[in-house]
Amino acid sequence: MYRIHLRLPGRGVGGHKVAFRIPATLAAVIALAVLATAATGLVMRGAVPHLGNAQPERAPEWTPTYSTDVKPIFDRSCVQCHGPRRADKGLRLDSFQRTMAGDSYGTVVIPGDSSLSAMVSVLKYGTMPHGASKLTADEIETISRWIDAGAKNE
Ligand code: HEC
Repeated sequence: MYRIHLRLPGRGVGGHKVAFRIPATLAAVIALAVLATAATGLVMRGAVPHLGNAQPERAPEWTPTYSTDVKPIFDRSCVQCHGPRRADKGLRLDSFQRTMAGDSYGTVVIPGDSSLSAMVSVLKYGTMPHGASKLTADEIETISRWIDAGAKNE
C-alpha cells in the first residue's frame, strides 16, 4: 500500500491535510501513465528525433547555387541521357551553358520563373527522368529555387 498526503490550501493554519491509500498496482499504473504522457509530449515537440522525416531544416530564403546544389543532381540523375554520350531531345545538362541553351525546341530554364520552365514541369508533372526513379521533393525544390533566384552560374 502507498500512502499519499495532500495539503490543501485554506481552512486554518497549515491548510487541510488529506491522506489516502492506494494499492501498489494502481500506483504503478499511474506512474506509467505519467511517464508515457511525458514521453509523447517530448516526441511531439521534436525533442526526440524521429526517423522518416529527415528533411534538412532550411531557412525560407535559402538560395541554392548551380555548382554546389544543382549540377550534382543533373550529374547523378540526368547526364546519362542528356550528356556527351546521348543528348535526348538535343538537351545536354552537363554544363551551365548547355543547360541554358535548352533542347531542340528552345529553352527549358526560364530564369526567375520556375513555373514557366519546362524543366520543372517535366520533373513535377512529367515522366522525367525517363526510366529512373523520380527526383525527391527536396531535389525538385532545389532546382525550382535556383531558377526562381535567376538561374545564375555560381
Ligand atoms: C533515361 C533517359 C533520361 C533521363 C535519365 C532523363 N531524361 Fe530528360 N528526356 C529524355 C528523353 C527521351 C526526352 C525527350 C522525350 C520527352 O520529352 O519525353 C527528354 C526530354 C527532356 C526535357 C524536354 C521536355 C520538353 O517537353 O521540352 C527536359 C527539360 C528533360 N528531359 C529534363 C531532364 C532532367 C532535368 C533529368 C534529370 C532529372 C532528365 N531529363 C533525365 C530522356 C531522359
